[in-house]
Amino acid sequence: MRIFIGVAWPYANGPVHLGHIVGAYLPADIFARYQRMQGNEVLMVSGSDQHGTPITLTAEKEGVSPQEVADRYHKINSEVMERMGISFDLFFRTSDPAHRDVVKRFFLRLYENGYLYRGKMLLPYCPSCHRFLPDRYVVGTCPYCGYENARGDQCDNCGRTLDPKDLINPRCAICGTTPEFRETEHVFFSLSKLEKRLLGWLADKTYWRSNVLNFTRNFIKGGLKDRAITRDIEWGVEVPLKGFENKRIYVWFDAVIGYLSASVEWAKRTGKSWRAFWMDRDVRHYYFLGKDNIPFHTIIWPAMLMAHGELNLPYNVVANEYLRFSGEKFSKSRGIGVWMPELLDAFHPDIIRFYGIINMPENRDSDFTWDDFVQKVNEELIDKFANFVHRALIFAYRNFGEVPPRGEVDEVDREAIKTIMQTLKNMQKYLENVELKKAFKEWMNLARFGNVYFDRKAPWALCKENKERCATAINISLQIVQALAILGAPFLPFTAEKIWHYLGNEDSIFEHKYVEAIKNMQEGRKLNKPEVLFEKIKRDEERYEKWEQIDLRVALVESVEDHPNADKLYVLRIDLGDEKRTLIAGLKRFYKKEELLGKKLIVVCNLEPANFRGVRSEGMLLAGEDDNTVGFLTPLGDVEPGARVQANGVHSNPKGILKFKKFQKMKMEVADIIKRDGKVVAVGKGEYPIDYRPAESWAGKQGVVFHDKKPLILHVGDVPIGPVRYVKPGGKIR
Ligand code: MF3
Ligand code: ZN
Repeated sequence: MRIFIGVAWPYANGPVHLGHIVGAYLPADIFARYQRMQGNEVLMVSGSDQHGTPITLTAEKEGVSPQEVADRYHKINSEVMERMGISFDLFFRTSDPAHRDVVKRFFLRLYENGYLYRGKMLLPYCPSCHRFLPDRYVVGTCPYCGYENARGDQCDNCGRTLDPKDLINPRCAICGTTPEFRETEHVFFSLSKLEKRLLGWLADKTYWRSNVLNFTRNFIKGGLKDRAITRDIEWGVEVPLKGFENKRIYVWFDAVIGYLSASVEWAKRTGKSWRAFWMDRDVRHYYFLGKDNIPFHTIIWPAMLMAHGELNLPYNVVANEYLRFSGEKFSKSRGIGVWMPELLDAFHPDIIRFYGIINMPENRDSDFTWDDFVQKVNEELIDKFANFVHRALIFAYRNFGEVPPRGEVDEVDREAIKTIMQTLKNMQKYLENVELKKAFKEWMNLARFGNVYFDRKAPWALCKENKERCATAINISLQIVQALAILGAPFLPFTAEKIWHYLGNEDSIFEHKYVEAIKNMQEGRKLNKPEVLFEKIKRDEERYEKWEQIDLRVALVESVEDHPNADKLYVLRIDLGDEKRTLIAGLKRFYKKEELLGKKLIVVCNLEPANFRGVRSEGMLLAGEDDNTVGFLTPLGDVEPGARVQANGVHSNPKGILKFKKFQKMKMEVADIIKRDGKVVAVGKGEYPIDYRPAESWAGKQGVVFHDKKPLILHVGDVPIGPVRYVKPGGKIR
């Protein structure tokens, strides 16, 4: 059998985070590896989604070309996929000429088939930026759920796809001006014509996950409207029609065709046939994605394929819910989340995969917390699985050096063999249904069983009494180890391969079939010396008692007024993302009102409120000072209001109000960040080594050192916190 697997293409505007991996790439990879081990021929593709406004917005912010952004993150994310062991047959990119070519041909075919037509439409135009605004450049209130920061293409709150026209109170995302709607010519896709066929096609998709099916049915119930698939932008695939030289194809129309273009490119590179996957009706097409991508894969892409006429439609669309980070949505600009390049620098990919599987948001949102990560990895993966495997392997290696013969088996041994068979059957059943978590639970149970079996047999004692029975116990133990390796291979590929080698095999475990999990071990095969599979994760280092107690956040100054009863004070109104507050600040001697307005500050948000001459201050802004000046602290880069400040990558964890007395005991100072002998040091009153890798790129800037059991550097994501003006190193923070 042949199976096609498409995985949603990540935007090349930043590194992928754990939520992306756990939501799409990891489940797809587990499924692909399993299917290959079932003897099926699998083609799994994805790639970087390099067009569209996510890329141009980032490029504009950085002042570089979209291609530069797209290239940079394509490289980073390709490496992440590789390091995580995501076994793509091709991880392609939409800025590749071969992709653009396939898109244009697809477009023309739909045009010839009568599913694309030219028409006029009203589009938002910003009179102060002098340009048409792409969907994402318009923000406003969602007409369905009332969420105030919905984008023109989609509402992040209710997930519905939108048109900029639908937004209540639309604003230009760049300058805040209300856009006007002007008429321009575009190409439309006749989605409405395909409504009936889509419903017919959906009728037998009862095996889909209910979240996907319900979402899709509700979406169609609302009625399908034709959609413009061209845009007034410069970055994207050219429109192959006269008169459209200044427009480009809409990013979503272009990206989904990537599934096809990547298949064509794969065929070109390998000499195999993409048609065998796309035109043979018996081939099943699976798609893996996060829930925000559902309508594009269950409606738009199938409709495009219908309009094309020759290609296979999806068989199953597997969408996961979201992984959250300590209860919050992953957000780069707010510094919330874990990004894959850093995570992979710190942990073995199978440790990340393990936690990703047991915490996979298959049916509801799940939550990543560091404490849970450390606990589950140490107590489940290491104590249960790795521990058993190592005990069995090392005992076998030291006492026999080869697979010992299986003698007479008893009740306990028979139970072990039955358990292996049952585990295989159950896992196959769940994996066929793409119920990966359930499948993995079965596997964990087998690991637990292995431990129990080993303890019951107590081979270390048996060895002295009865060598033959000991040999049987070890033979069966290795049988369980082998089953764990084979059955676990789709989930923990690197570890499975290692164990396979310790068991004395020369080839790759991935050349073997899943059913070989129950095949008897070859007696007398030489074993290889086993190494410890994983080191336990230590985490005490990451607990900083002082830092934990303070809640520092980025605030945007919305207004500045004189204090009615005090000459030296201002009254500020600040925006903290999800709330606004009033602050009293003694900055009047150093800053004019305009110098504060619209600026970002760092505010202690959990300080007990205090009255200053009759006005209440709900927090305190931080500033560094020396004999001559005061420089308020600010993020030295682009960060959203409300972002939480981190110290050496660690979020604080305040349990309540911070008393002023306690705050006064916290020591912070301004320091010059410099690089010396390849190491980062912060030079303030003293010289402090900074043990935080990303700080290397901050050399030359001023930062803030927070003194805990070791010196910590303050930042939000990859943006350091520092004084807005130069303050002498060692300057105190108040
Ligand atoms: N880049 C999109 C996102 O991150 C997903 C595109 S999926 C594709 O939301 F199939 F269209 F490529
Ligand atoms: Zn504007």
